[in-house]
Amino acid sequence: MPFMCRRTIFGLLALAVLTGPAAAQYPTKQIIVIVPFAAGGPTDVVTRLVGEHMSRTLGQTLVVENIGGAGGTLGMTRTAQANPDGYTIAVGNMGTQSAAPSLYRNLKYDPARGFAQIGIVNYTPQAIVARKDTPAKDLKEFLAYLKTNSAKLSYGHAGVGSISHVSGLLFNSQFGFKPTLIPYKGTGPALRDLVAGQIDYMVDQSLNVIPQVQAGTVTAYAVAAPARLDSMPNVPSTKEAGIDFIFSAWNAMVAPKGTPPDIVARLVEALNKALDDPTVRKRFAELGSTAPQGADRGPAGLQKLVDSEIARITPVIKAAGVIAD
Ligand code: MLT
Repeated sequence: MPFMCRRTIFGLLALAVLTGPAAAQYPTKQIIVIVPFAAGGPTDVVTRLVGEHMSRTLGQTLVVENIGGAGGTLGMTRTAQANPDGYTIAVGNMGTQSAAPSLYRNLKYDPARGFAQIGIVNYTPQAIVARKDTPAKDLKEFLAYLKTNSAKLSYGHAGVGSISHVSGLLFNSQFGFKPTLIPYKGTGPALRDLVAGQIDYMVDQSLNVIPQVQAGTVTAYAVAAPARLDSMPNVPSTKEAGIDFIFSAWNAMVAPKGTPPDIVARLVEALNKALDDPTVRKRFAELGSTAPQGADRGPAGLQKLVDSEIARITPVIKAAGVIAD
């Protein structure tokens, strides 16, 4: 009988571990969301937008911690190594989760297998922007201007492996431009320097540049997409402008590998609710961003995207012959 009791107790304990009694109450304290780039940039903006809604769903505040540096890989390394208890998660992007492995030989995380995937947050096309006093009235003139002057000009990006770095790399190598590359901890500070005329041009997420384009503080020459964006109606798409340069950025929410599945499920549910919220959707649309739908939602949608983006971007970066470390 005592043996039976012990077995019953062990059985109950095992069940408790499997079903996660902590998860039933999760979350009981604030959740840190690591943004691997500087405050004020696209990842930060999108994280705060969905994070505020998720906080309401989960009943605990999602607190953003900006850990910029090394193209976002510092923050994602910190996330991969964090306690997998659901109280540290992160929002990475196309750079940290698909370009970084082919740029950093010593990358300390595996974007495809080293996280519990939560879901894609948004997609945003890149835009080609320059300081507002650039002497070019349209994309054709801007390309001609870069052809003659790029060696004297500076290109700002968010660190090796970031989206702005990779998209700039592809843009510059496609046309043979050779600007001086200026790394920042995110395109928030890079864009501020573009507005201030400290650097000359960028290829950055439309989500980041739209407010400045609307305010007339930078000039947008094209959006790297098949069609124009409603929020920048006067800016042509690269397709319309006649160049073959399409580049879509995305953000993704992840947790450290080993985070209990029922906690991940709570986060997935809260993210999906945020993505369906009319206010979030409206803001996404204003910033030229779209949310994933249907099968693209949740861990499976993100896993598929990460795998396919790594397979797509690795040969492109290898062909460009760039290594970060
Ligand atoms: C940021 O949040 O600063 C960007 O997502 C950086 C980038 O990858 O270009």
